[in-house]
Amino acid sequence: LASTASAIDEFLGCLSADIPSGLIQTPATPSSYSALLLSTARNLRYVLPDTSKPLGIIAATEHAHAQTTVRCGRRHGVRVRVRSGGHDYEGLSYASVHLHNRNEPFAVLDLAALRAIHVDAARAEAWVESGATVGELYYAVGAASRSLGFPAGSCPTMGVGGHLSGGGFGSLARKYGLSADNVLDAVVVDADGRLVNRSTMGEDHFWALCGGGGESFGVVLSWKEMAPASPQELYLRVLVLNQQANFQALFLGRCGGLHRLMQDRFPELGMTEQDCEEVSWVQSTAFFGFSTTSVPPEQLLNRSSNPSYYLKAKSDHVQEPIPRDVWESIWTTWLEKPEAALLMLDPYGGVMSSIPPSETPFPHRQGNLYQLQYYSFWYENGTAAAEKRMSWVRGLYKEMEPYVSKNPRAVYVNYRDLDLGTNELDGDVTSYEKARVSWGDKYFKGNFKRLAAVKTMVDPHDFFRNEQSIPPLPTAK
Ligand code: FDA
Repeated sequence: LASTASAIDEFLGCLSADIPSGLIQTPATPSSYSALLLSTARNLRYVLPDTSKPLGIIAATEHAHAQTTVRCGRRHGVRVRVRSGGHDYEGLSYASVHLHNRNEPFAVLDLAALRAIHVDAARAEAWVESGATVGELYYAVGAASRSLGFPAGSCPTMGVGGHLSGGGFGSLARKYGLSADNVLDAVVVDADGRLVNRSTMGEDHFWALCGGGGESFGVVLSWKEMAPASPQELYLRVLVLNQQANFQALFLGRCGGLHRLMQDRFPELGMTEQDCEEVSWVQSTAFFGFSTTSVPPEQLLNRSSNPSYYLKAKSDHVQEPIPRDVWESIWTTWLEKPEAALLMLDPYGGVMSSIPPSETPFPHRQGNLYQLQYYSFWYENGTAAAEKRMSWVRGLYKEMEPYVSKNPRAVYVNYRDLDLGTNELDGDVTSYEKARVSWGDKYFKGNFKRLAAVKTMVDPHDFFRNEQSIPPLPTAK
């Protein structure tokens, strides 16, 4: 590994043979380096002075730039962290905080400029580059056809690269599953710097990319997706903030049908037809992104995530209804506190229950009622504010243990949580067993071993690694 200044210089020299110097930023030019570093750094906790920062950032504008970065990184011992939209909850695409990585120099390969989208409405398919935002993808699909959509999450500024790598859960999940369930092909730079696609990488590698979490299996440059047409279905989520519950629904049908359904199934909510608005699918994505339908869909094209905030989140899967008295006690003892986090309840069921848990690395299918997320965000600087918020999240998470999934207590990898544990080294590679026990089983259940087997096949030297990347399987000693 590069531990010397000369190895780092050699890495940068290697890059400059193929990549224009204007696309490579290093701390030697602090203002442009820092502007690029912060351009999509979503969580302010990971831009504080004690976080270790990349030795360089490569703002790729061509696929060949990504290949060169990987090849030079391999040759000169510099690891590469890929960043698409920078929304990782624990900042893993632009920062390194944990012990074994402290002395591992890394560069960031920023894909924000690789964001072309091509929708083929006649075939209901699309190619999208990883640096596109989910909002840009929604807009492009909506512009191509009023009857097509694409299942993905609610925040329009998330990058397609990280989002699809971890699954991609949103308002169409009950009807069409995750984003990853709808991926048909991908173009990837592998650990040797080769460009591969589904037919040349093989089915196991492709399987691992569609939900195995970002970073571990290469740099995904672009994805081919299905854009399903939309029939009727209901998705109803609850956002709880400061002792107020806000119900948001997407119904694939007309207001009259939704009204009848809600009267029948949820009469206690007292929904009227005036609470419903008929909009195109793309307008509904703007609603979930901005909590209003009055913004024009063009707002989905705004890539700026500002204002960024400090963030800590944890998540659970609920498999049995949580008793009423438990909710009442959460309501009075936890939610009245000023530092209370936003609670998000996202429904499972529908097609999510009929997709086998091994179909993609994302294993949370049948048997889950809803996902419960504790999402704390704050703007005040300083450790006191951070500790108060984080201990609230950790405290409620601890208290919820009896009421959520067990053995393992399941977590969605895109809601990354370093509290679960971080990779440790076993020789030159990250330890499979340590990872399995601390976070692997929780994110991936029975799929973790297969992910490690794919890792052994496609990146045996563990080049693509971070605090929670998939380790290779242990070699027989
Ligand atoms: P980022 O660029 O930070 O990458 C995340 C991880 O993937 C990193 O480890 C990175 O190295 C790796 N990676 C990125 N691009 C890659 C590529 N091209 N090839 C290989 N590896 C790559 N999720 C959800 O399912 N539904 C939702 O509704 C939401 N909502 C939401 C709101 C907000 C405000 C935030 C901050 C996050 C969410 N998420 C979410 C979680 C989101 O899906 C998750 O953070 C994604 O990893 C974000 O993808 P980015 O490309 O933006 O992240």
